[in-house]
Amino acid sequence: MRVTVSRKAHFNAAHRLYRKDWSNEQNDTIFGKCNNANFHGHNYELTVSVTGGIDPETGYVIDTKILSDLIKVHIEDAFDHKNLNLDVPEFAELNPTAENIVVVIWQKLRAHIHADKDLEVTLYETPRNFVTFKGE
Ligand code: NI
Repeated sequence: MRVTVSRKAHFNAAHRLYRKDWSNEQNDTIFGKCNNANFHGHNYELTVSVTGGIDPETGYVIDTKILSDLIKVHIEDAFDHKNLNLDVPEFAELNPTAENIVVVIWQKLRAHIHADKDLEVTLYETPRNFVTFKGE
């Protein structure tokens, strides 16, 4: 019997989508307004889901306080009110698309969640655009 426990969180961050090795014209063609040289911001929303067996002693799959603390320390404190391109080392050489951000979030959290539990992260870049990664 496996149960999924989910926690929502959010952060505000700026980014710019572009490749240093492409011309401005090529970046504009592919990334459009997202290539604005002065960056632009998003209110990112995320859902972190942990799936596992229920601990018979506690009745928990994972203590939501522990999960919320992990998200705060490793994601919100690292990304909130930051410029992802300039302030977050993971994106120094990695285009901070929603796809790449969700993989980085998943990797950062995976390291702190017991291996017998599954982890899935959904990241909303806008209310209508969202991406999901579960480590596959
Ligand atoms: Ni954007």
